[in-house]
Amino acid sequence: MRIIVTGGAGFIGSHITDAYLAAGHEVVVIDSLWAHGGGRRDNIAERASFVHVDIRDPGIERIFREFAPEVVSHHAAQHSVAISSRDPQLDAQVNVLGLLNVLETSVKAGVKKVIFASSGATFGEPKTLPITEGTPQWPESPYAITKMVAEHYLRFFRMQHGIDFTSLRYGNVYGPRQDPNGEAGVVSIFIGRFLAQQGVKIYWDGEQTRDYIYVGDIAALNVLALQRGGGACYGIGTNKKTSVNEIYRALVDVTGFEAPIEHLPRRPGDVRDAQIDSSLAAQELSWLPKTTLLEGMKKTVDYFRERLPA
Ligand SMILES: NC(=O)c1ccc[n+]([C@@H]2O[C@H](COP(=O)([O-])OP(=O)(O)OC[C@H]3O[C@@H](n4cnc5c(N)ncnc54)[C@H](O)[C@@H]3O)[C@@H](O)[C@H]2O)c1
Repeated sequence: MRIIVTGGAGFIGSHITDAYLAAGHEVVVIDSLWAHGGGRRDNIAERASFVHVDIRDPGIERIFREFAPEVVSHHAAQHSVAISSRDPQLDAQVNVLGLLNVLETSVKAGVKKVIFASSGATFGEPKTLPITEGTPQWPESPYAITKMVAEHYLRFFRMQHGIDFTSLRYGNVYGPRQDPNGEAGVVSIFIGRFLAQQGVKIYWDGEQTRDYIYVGDIAALNVLALQRGGGACYGIGTNKKTSVNEIYRALVDVTGFEAPIEHLPRRPGDVRDAQIDSSLAAQELSWLPKTTLLEGMKKTVDYFRERLPA
């Protein structure tokens, strides 16, 4: 298949690009290498073509016309909850208007399907856990609002133009190439501190939880979504709650360093718990996460260790 991966220089998008190439597909990455995102040129596999362009640029039409992709994996985004709260207009420009440019261009180019990186953040702080596809979305940040709105646009474009979609509502994705500003930022921030033999900050009591999912499992999921899951949104996680304290202890196990902890009060807006039930993705996409937290942490620590300055 011919596939365009937007945001393919970023953390998750670059792993998806690698997985698509490994499965024998042809990939063009489009990415603006946004200064505040995780995009880096050296994340992009040599076998992928790369176009340095903003998804809001009408000029993407030429790339779509010439390459004629069958699928677009839309992973480019303003990816930070904090930046979205400071600058909701920027967030909406990239995450809504950028998406619309990608969708309109996709329609013109005859793209069959768009795979979209949505987020568990669209649920805010749900009344009951685990989150399922039936949980009401109640986004609590501009970032989460634009991710939810995007799903409605995808539905509209499917009805109006017959372009299919699969929306994947990721939990907190972690792994090699991870950017500290993204949704699972705590993992890469902690790893950086552990490897520098420095202390870490733990807010609240450290018992707040998230559903951490390894990026390799997300890449495998995106390969399955090429053929399955049309017209649907899926919760994507491990169905396990992992606390900040557990992340801390896993890193002590992996690195052998007992990082000093500075305890700080809860930050405004911090959500207590998150846990995503992915039974529907298991049933309809035949996807199950395979990587345990300890395995994932080991791989992530190894990656960052190799890149330490000598
Ligand atoms: N990391 C997570 O835990 C997580 C969870 C849920 C959803 N997501 C979503 O997954 C996607 C990838 O996130 P990530 O963590 O890999 O972040 P990332 O910053 O590493 O990747 C995003 C990429 O988008 C690019 N980009 C940003 N603005 C752009 C623009 N205007 N035009 C073209 N490219 C642009 C960046 O340069 C970057 O390479 C995003 O859509 C994010 O919202 C991530």
